[in-house]
Amino acid sequence: MTSLAPVVTARNDQEAWWRDAVIYQIYPRSFADSDGDGLGDLPGITSHMDHLAALGVDAIWLSPFYPSPQVDAGYDVADYFDVAPEYGTLADFDVMVAAARAVGIRVVVDVVPNHSSDQHAWFRAALAAGPGSPERDRYIFRHNPDGPPNNWGSLFGGSAWTRVEPLTGRPEDRDWWYLHLFAAEQPDFNWDHPEVREMFRDFLRFWATRGVDGFRVDVAHGLVKAPGLPDDALGADRWRGFAVDEDGASVPKTADNGPMFDQPGVHEIYRDWRRVLSAIRPDILLVAEAWVDPPEHMARYVREDEMSQAFNFDYLKSAWRAADLRQVIDTSMEANAAVGAPTTWVLSNHDVVRHATRFGYPPGSEPDGGIGAEDPQPDAALGLRRARAATLFALGLPGGMYMFQGEELGLPEHTTMDDSARQDPAWLRTDKQTRGRDGCRVPLPWAVDAPACGFNTTGLSWLPQPEGWDGYAPAAQETDPDSTLAMYRRAIATRREWRLGRGEIQWLEGLPGQVLAVRNGEVIVVTNTGDEELQLPLAGTVLVQSWNGEMGDRADTVVVPANATVWLAAS
Ligand code: NOJ
Repeated sequence: MTSLAPVVTARNDQEAWWRDAVIYQIYPRSFADSDGDGLGDLPGITSHMDHLAALGVDAIWLSPFYPSPQVDAGYDVADYFDVAPEYGTLADFDVMVAAARAVGIRVVVDVVPNHSSDQHAWFRAALAAGPGSPERDRYIFRHNPDGPPNNWGSLFGGSAWTRVEPLTGRPEDRDWWYLHLFAAEQPDFNWDHPEVREMFRDFLRFWATRGVDGFRVDVAHGLVKAPGLPDDALGADRWRGFAVDEDGASVPKTADNGPMFDQPGVHEIYRDWRRVLSAIRPDILLVAEAWVDPPEHMARYVREDEMSQAFNFDYLKSAWRAADLRQVIDTSMEANAAVGAPTTWVLSNHDVVRHATRFGYPPGSEPDGGIGAEDPQPDAALGLRRARAATLFALGLPGGMYMFQGEELGLPEHTTMDDSARQDPAWLRTDKQTRGRDGCRVPLPWAVDAPACGFNTTGLSWLPQPEGWDGYAPAAQETDPDSTLAMYRRAIATRREWRLGRGEIQWLEGLPGQVLAVRNGEVIVVTNTGDEELQLPLAGTVLVQSWNGEMGDRADTVVVPANATVWLAAS
């Protein structure tokens, strides 16, 4: 047996609530719509707090609900200290937090510090004030007559630089550009500027004193850029899954994170934030959204005086293969243990193809940029079966678990959305080459045979819901003990009861190659990633299983069907 201890160094946050928390991501625009305008809102969240309580999650994390032109669904913030009118008011926020508290659920909000909206007062002032002004110094403006100041590409396609003159119409703005790693409407802040630093300290204080228990940090690896903004060795190819050599052939990308990401200077910002938050409450969560290689670099973000956790995107990206999953689990747990941090597990979020759909493709060919009606379609039943197995395996591991709204219903991606309905800037900025993320953001179904499947009462929906969507509604699953919802509830409750999130794992060796099997305290967690049923020499009483049908336990063997997970209470 190979033993993996989650924590090897002593830290003062050993008892912190987030170490083993199950955190449920709410995408406010698509969760529930109380006023019928087709957009979800904060009162909609409050009205479904019973669903979240019954699910048993420890916390909810809300994607941005701040005032925003919604060019990037709220990740373009125009005012960091208010609620967007279409989502409600600060009073609605307070009511929602109180409702969550009342059922023992904590609240985490998104902080978007890499960029603002171009409609933020500071960017408007910057454009108005002209070249060389102190107002422009809060963002990244550069003068270059020969074209964009460097070769960086926007993650949403095209150059990361936009010309200023067409926006202001002023001749002195000729050959001036501003930087935006995402859409042109999302200008990057200059984090060398003390006012930028102070504004985000104020942001943290404002929301933490309003009762927030944590912050999910958007683009946490991007705030500080390499001095002098040098060219990127990969240019705009960085954002494809591959690079292209001079003959146009695909070549694997190098592992460096580029001059725009993972610069050493970001860590001082998070140390500063930790000091700010510690002065309010010691256990406030900071979780990094940082797509950084290798795992040892990720681990730097979760040193004791920085953030609490980072999303484990290597796990999310792993193919449905036992060896790949095991390797990611080992390397991520080891890298985190070296700094005394728990790892996290995440399979879906608002930026990726939902895992019930991803796993409906052959292992290794999972799509990652959205799916259209003409693309190869997934095997939906297989995808859901594997998704349930993958979730149940992840919930059996120590550390934090992040889940995305709707995955507890087994929701798939909308893979046949009409292209005319798409709203993701990635779709528009890539000349409609990358379909983007709309397919995972479709408004949730709540009721059967109801307008917009119970998302609201008017039937409006900002993205179209596919045929049969109401079959996934909680109302359709509530009384079915074999439903995906029932499995999630049972698994979360059992995980808490057996303290699996706080455990340590040992791999069980000597089993077939398609099997992942760990012992976590008194529980054995076994997944069969293969396509054949297996009879395994493991004993125990079944606590939770991912498939519908007979429990396969006997005195000395357990039968695990293809693409399935079971938890056994070791005897
Ligand atoms: C990551 C967010 O998750 C994504 O939705 C957003 O588009 C980018 N950061 C830019 O803020």
